[in-house]
Amino acid sequence: MLKIGDIEIKNQVVLAPMAGVCNSAFRLTVKEFGAGLVCAEMVSDKGIVLKNEKTMNMLYIDEREKPLSLQIFGGEKKTLVEAAQFVDKNTNADIIDINMGCPVPKITKCDAGAKWLLDPDKIYEMVAAVVEAVEKPVTVKMRMGWDDDHIFAVKNAQAVERAGGKAVALHGRTRVQMYEGKANWDIIREVKQSINIPLIGNGDVQTPHDAKRMLEETGCDGVMIGRAALGNPWMIYRTVQYLETGRLMVEPTVREKMDVCILHLDRLIALKDEYIAVREMRKHAAWYLKGVRGNARVRNAINECNTRDELVGVLNSLAVEVEEEERHVIVG
Ligand SMILES: Cc1cc2nc3c(=O)[nH]c(=O)nc-3n(C[C@H](O)[C@H](O)[C@H](O)COP(=O)(O)O)c2cc1C
Repeated sequence: MLKIGDIEIKNQVVLAPMAGVCNSAFRLTVKEFGAGLVCAEMVSDKGIVLKNEKTMNMLYIDEREKPLSLQIFGGEKKTLVEAAQFVDKNTNADIIDINMGCPVPKITKCDAGAKWLLDPDKIYEMVAAVVEAVEKPVTVKMRMGWDDDHIFAVKNAQAVERAGGKAVALHGRTRVQMYEGKANWDIIREVKQSINIPLIGNGDVQTPHDAKRMLEETGCDGVMIGRAALGNPWMIYRTVQYLETGRLMVEPTVREKMDVCILHLDRLIALKDEYIAVREMRKHAAWYLKGVRGNARVRNAINECNTRDELVGVLNSLAVEVEEEERHVIVG
């Protein structure tokens, strides 16, 4: 069983933290599809310390999502520790995760995110300070290095362990790669062999088979799934099932996809107001529609929706259309 500190996780499948995506509405939906652990989108330490209203809203966690890992990012020890203490005392997160992977210049410029990867000593110092200040288990999510000439994944993960971190999630790409190229799973195996805390492998797990292959090839303790779960919580369900039983469940029907998309929309409306939720949902709706026949036809219509009723109308009519077409094919 995957165990992080005292937190027992019922399977090896972890939803990756994704900014602008992994809020409570999506996380709860993915949790209901069987994820062992869900990770929240990254939250700024300074936003927490300054009690910025938008940031505070990002700390909301539904009890049904637990166990949950809440990720913070920052480049200064003082604010990072203060933010971690706030999360420790004032949220129902189970795990506090520190971001050492975000590649975007706005973040790395402030010595946060992937910038840490260049300095194992800083990693040790910062993680130790956070561990010392909180009761919840502290983990780190990192990329394998800054660029091809600076791949310190082993040293960095060992620094996390020495500092009292309870797990590492490793994305097998460098900061410079952003999302280009292929994730390097060899480095995941190398890091797994060099630490004693759980290692969660991440990068390019696109199918349930990939998840099994990553576990087998690297020996990692859990698999973290990001992009493949966008608009596709079935990826999580099918992966959990495949790992547990060796059976591959069928892909969802269009009607099922639209129903879950609408459930996700309604949860987002409950979280934010309708106007914001519908706008935010446009990108999710496009992800739910990936692979659905006729999706290009409705994409523009979705991007013009401003209310729940409009969006639900477009989604339902697409489902009806596709069902009709399928009936014709079967009858014909
Ligand atoms: C839209 C998006 C937002 C992301 N936001 C975060 C984030 O907030 N924190 C983080 O550690 N990683 C973030 N990531 C990286 C993912 O957690 C993951 O490491 C990456 O997508 C590789 O996994 P995948 O191949 O399964 O997608 C983000 C990725 C995407 C696509």
